[in-house]
Amino acid sequence: MKIAFSEPKAVGKHWVAVAVAGDRVLRGHAADLNGRHGDIVARTIQAVGFKAERAKTTAIVTPGPGELKGIILVGLGNPDELTAEHFAHIGGALVAQASGVNAADLTVALDDDGCGPVAGADAAANLALGMQLRAYRFTTSRTTKTTGAPALKKATIQLSGAAAARKAHADLDKVAAAVAFTRDIVTEPANVLYPDSYARIIDETLTPLGVKVEILDEKDMEKLGMGSLLGVGMGSAKPPRLVVMQWQGVKGQGAKARGKKPLAFVGKGVTFDTGGISIKPSAGMEDMKWDMGGSAAVVGLMHALAGRKAKVNAVGIVGLVENMPSGTAQRPGDVVKSMSGQTIEVLNTDAEGRLVLADALWYCQDRFQPRFMIDLATLTGAIMVALGKEMAGLYSNRDELADALLKAGEATGERCWRMPLDEAYDRQIDGDISDVKNISAGRWGGSITAAQFLQRFTNGLPWAHLDIAGTAWTDKDRPLAPKGATAFGVRMLNAFVAANYE
Ligand code: BES
Ligand code: MN
Ligand code: ZN
Repeated sequence: MKIAFSEPKAVGKHWVAVAVAGDRVLRGHAADLNGRHGDIVARTIQAVGFKAERAKTTAIVTPGPGELKGIILVGLGNPDELTAEHFAHIGGALVAQASGVNAADLTVALDDDGCGPVAGADAAANLALGMQLRAYRFTTSRTTKTTGAPALKKATIQLSGAAAARKAHADLDKVAAAVAFTRDIVTEPANVLYPDSYARIIDETLTPLGVKVEILDEKDMEKLGMGSLLGVGMGSAKPPRLVVMQWQGVKGQGAKARGKKPLAFVGKGVTFDTGGISIKPSAGMEDMKWDMGGSAAVVGLMHALAGRKAKVNAVGIVGLVENMPSGTAQRPGDVVKSMSGQTIEVLNTDAEGRLVLADALWYCQDRFQPRFMIDLATLTGAIMVALGKEMAGLYSNRDELADALLKAGEATGERCWRMPLDEAYDRQIDGDISDVKNISAGRWGGSITAAQFLQRFTNGLPWAHLDIAGTAWTDKDRPLAPKGATAFGVRMLNAFVAANYE
């Protein structure tokens, strides 16, 4: 979708969206527009009894020559309570409404005085971001044009101070592109996206943005002693990969640049999870193509940071593996040796994500000594039992890190809920014939014991884990994401980096 910003001016035979405050009084730009068009906006508000609740919309087609094509009203609610995130939701709601009336070209009238505590430029920029996020469609494997595509092709946001809005949108535009890329790779099926092809896509996409991309193959990982990750890949004809991405936004060889330890992000990239020998039931197994959603969020974050040239040094590491049953697959009960030296009893081959992350995390801290590590993974069904599909589970061994992440989650609407780590849970994964086992004996607290497992491979570094099994994919349209891959984590972590480390 094309986005443009312009100063308020007369609109021809177009669809126009007017933002209306909760008191339903038209001011500034909206009042002018209403006056120019024979009071039509005010009359529409009355006629349909529009309440102007936040992000609620309604549309009418305006008949007659010389008139507008149609009007979409969008509510702002109480302007005093508005946040930038609300404007993104308003943008998302506009896209849905515009598609409902088949509007291809929409002019949005925003009164820069009516955005409450949000500066007009930020309001417009976030509204545009919301439109872009909601208008996303996966198009790569469609041969027919008809289905699914949103009607809206172009949006022009009118406000006084368009130049400032355009500037504020420049970075958000990069974030929107990163989110779209993330959704694309999460949506790709496993016959297209497997470890090797995925690694090449990462290289081809991020290298031109200035990210240094290294791809480790099986031999490299064998040398490093990554028996835990390699064990998961044993059953597949598609060999695993580990991809290391480095973004150096703090340039130079000065003491400052060298002294800055990188921020590190680690992702679970299981390109398909059959469960392995502990095979999953067939119903819903197709969902397991998006078991690489954590890795995709890390790749998308690097995309966003590089795209907007963030002044920060960041490392992204993703473990890419396909979990398949076969004659060469690992068996329940197998004991593998991880890069950390710890031995692991693989009691359930379907608890594979933690096995991949164990080596990825250890490698990360061993090679980069980062300031902290944050991992993302579609790790457990249990987190959905606990939190549903509205929030991700957040685990951390540092309160400040957890708090900063919770805050970034609230600011972007990619919300998290902090879950406990505790010695009592940790005891449950002590190995019987090994150092640690990959599942606990009971089925309770499955997301927590998974997090405890990961913690054993962090070497005490500041660390946080996001279990995004419930949030990486949505079964229904959401304000900022159509049904499908959400790219959960990209905007949140981008905001977290921007707020704390730039
Ligand atoms: N990838 C799954 C978790 C998952 C389930 C993600 C549903 C998204 C939707 C993970 O590898 C898995 O299979 N976890 C098991 C762990 C169990 C064997 C201890 C689970 O949650 O059932
Ligand atoms: Mn699994
Ligand atoms: Zn999995």
